[in-house]
Amino acid sequence: MKNRFVTIFSMVILLSCTNKPLQISSPDQTVGIGFSLVDGQPKYAVTKNNKPVIEPSSLGFKILQQTNQINRYKVLSSEIHSVDKPWEQPWGEFRVVNDNHNELIVHLMETGANKSLLDIQFRVFNDGVSFRYSFPEQNTLDSVIILDELTQFTFPEDQNVWWIPVHSENSYYESLYRKNRISETDTINTPATFETKDGLFLSIHEANLTDFASMTLRKTDTCQYTSELVPWSNGVKVYAKTPFVSPWRTLIIAEKPGDLVTSTLMLNLNDSCKLEDVSWIQPSKYIGIWWGMHLEKYTWGQGSKHGATTELTKNYIGFASENGFNGVLVEGWNEGWDGDWSKEGNKFSFTKSYPDFDLEEITSYAVMKNVRLIGHHETGGAATNYENQLEDAFALYHKYGVNAVKTGYVNKYLDGTEWHDSQYGVRHYRKVIETAAKYHIMIDNHEPVKGTGLQRTYPNLMTQEGGRGQEYDAWSSDGGNLPSHTVTLPFTRMLAGPFDFTPGTFNFNYSVREGTRVNTTLAKQLALFVVIYSPQQMASDLPENYVNQPAFQFIRDVAVDWEKTVVTDGQIGQYITVARQQRNSDNWFVGSITNENPRTLTLIFDFLDAGKTYEAIIYKDTDESDWKKNPTAITIEKMKITKDSKINIYLASGGGAAISLIPDGHKFPQ
Ligand code: NOJ
Repeated sequence: MKNRFVTIFSMVILLSCTNKPLQISSPDQTVGIGFSLVDGQPKYAVTKNNKPVIEPSSLGFKILQQTNQINRYKVLSSEIHSVDKPWEQPWGEFRVVNDNHNELIVHLMETGANKSLLDIQFRVFNDGVSFRYSFPEQNTLDSVIILDELTQFTFPEDQNVWWIPVHSENSYYESLYRKNRISETDTINTPATFETKDGLFLSIHEANLTDFASMTLRKTDTCQYTSELVPWSNGVKVYAKTPFVSPWRTLIIAEKPGDLVTSTLMLNLNDSCKLEDVSWIQPSKYIGIWWGMHLEKYTWGQGSKHGATTELTKNYIGFASENGFNGVLVEGWNEGWDGDWSKEGNKFSFTKSYPDFDLEEITSYAVMKNVRLIGHHETGGAATNYENQLEDAFALYHKYGVNAVKTGYVNKYLDGTEWHDSQYGVRHYRKVIETAAKYHIMIDNHEPVKGTGLQRTYPNLMTQEGGRGQEYDAWSSDGGNLPSHTVTLPFTRMLAGPFDFTPGTFNFNYSVREGTRVNTTLAKQLALFVVIYSPQQMASDLPENYVNQPAFQFIRDVAVDWEKTVVTDGQIGQYITVARQQRNSDNWFVGSITNENPRTLTLIFDFLDAGKTYEAIIYKDTDESDWKKNPTAITIEKMKITKDSKINIYLASGGGAAISLIPDGHKFPQ
């Protein structure tokens, strides 16, 4: 990396009150962004290959303290910079990410009585564009109350969008994606993914959501959305104090759907790592006393079916140790679960365990077995109750060697009134991540605010939920996740970062709710370990369901941390094939999955090293496999593969294939 060419090129242009458009292009010249003032109002437009992708669209905010509600500005000056700088991630889908962009900063002054200052910062990458607002320190604007954001995204025409609703189904993005024309939607969440008439794929989202409200998109015209910030309960969107910056508004532009998946735009727009020592942060595979609760075999609360007992936890630790898992998650160990816990979050104690759960005995046993207990903090949305105990809660876990905690916020609101994705929620989640880092604790955050790439700055934020995970296949009244759900997620939800989806079902024969089940084949369950990225990856089924199952070997072998990632093929909502190289290794893992349509895919391996032969272990559907009628039918086959190999693989309805590739003479690390 040291001898990589690094360019930082800067230029300052002084302009006085000009309407002349300012433009920059991506380093490869294919993506362009232009800024102009139209009647004093800031506007931007985006092109790909010289064709419009975003038509001239408004920029700005409605701010309580400003003289005009619709602000008119003049340009004071502008700057152009170029950056080409690789950086390394402590964990991730890529070890090295290259930050290669051109930047335009436009310095504006309001023409009203206040003369307030606003900078708009644009960055153009080969994989898309971004911009953010920066309010400098200034005499006439100190405390700021943002009433609305005015940023528009105006498309040249009506087009397909894959989207989920805002707050109407739940507060934490746990919806099935829909595909509609823009004109048929209303207010939608980000990431929102679009397909243009010219065959481009776009995704609107945000990066580095810090002390601000999340952006949702309100349809304001047939082919236009306007940013709709999630409000506080009093209607205010954001409280700020100059100087401050907004999150980045991002638009990935891809020529094929798979390029959305491998875009690093969001990560590049976050601040570099703030933690000095990251040696304690390690990706892991885990199991948990968890699915048993969702299947109603165990309970979170006390009683004859209490899951979090010392005895059961030690059994799980034993199983984890024998099968190469690093951790055991235990839910329901602490006081507060008896009764209606999702409505009575204030009753949770994060330091007092139930009498049948001996934290000291369990963690000493875990040390002997070289496994870690994974902690759990369900708050029932009572964020303040949690914050009041935060230091003690993390200190307790730290004392017992617990270095990862799953958090949860099951409630429509935080503290009874505030949205999870409001500025209130954003502040709370950040406090948890920062406090956890102090105690060397990694976080897996359920019911979160959406991911915006913060794991670059705080790599102890390992993974999040923020999507419809596999738990819905236990109890959801709609029958569980459709087979198309997991072939839509890589192009939508996954653009917000790692997802603790929890694949790994081997036993499909359970019944919590008539008609609800994991709607895949067994081979697809394996493939999901590669397709749905999470650096903490849970094998979700009960340990007893893994015993004597040859297919379990894939879960034992599969890696969780990657040197690089390649999407060889994919269509949104239909199928995808992802290949990932294990970090510090020559091993590769491949996952292919399909929706309800069976299909035969031709897999290519051009990502492999030339001149090497790999042994492939292929876990795939049989001719009889079918997610409804025969989910467990699987065949395991070995063959030699090289860079030039091409193989046809049959994926059954709701099916998939998982492949481990080891260079000849190598072994999987255990
Ligand atoms: C919802 C989470 O997604 C799930 O994983 C957890 O088991 C329950 N909340 C209880 O905390």
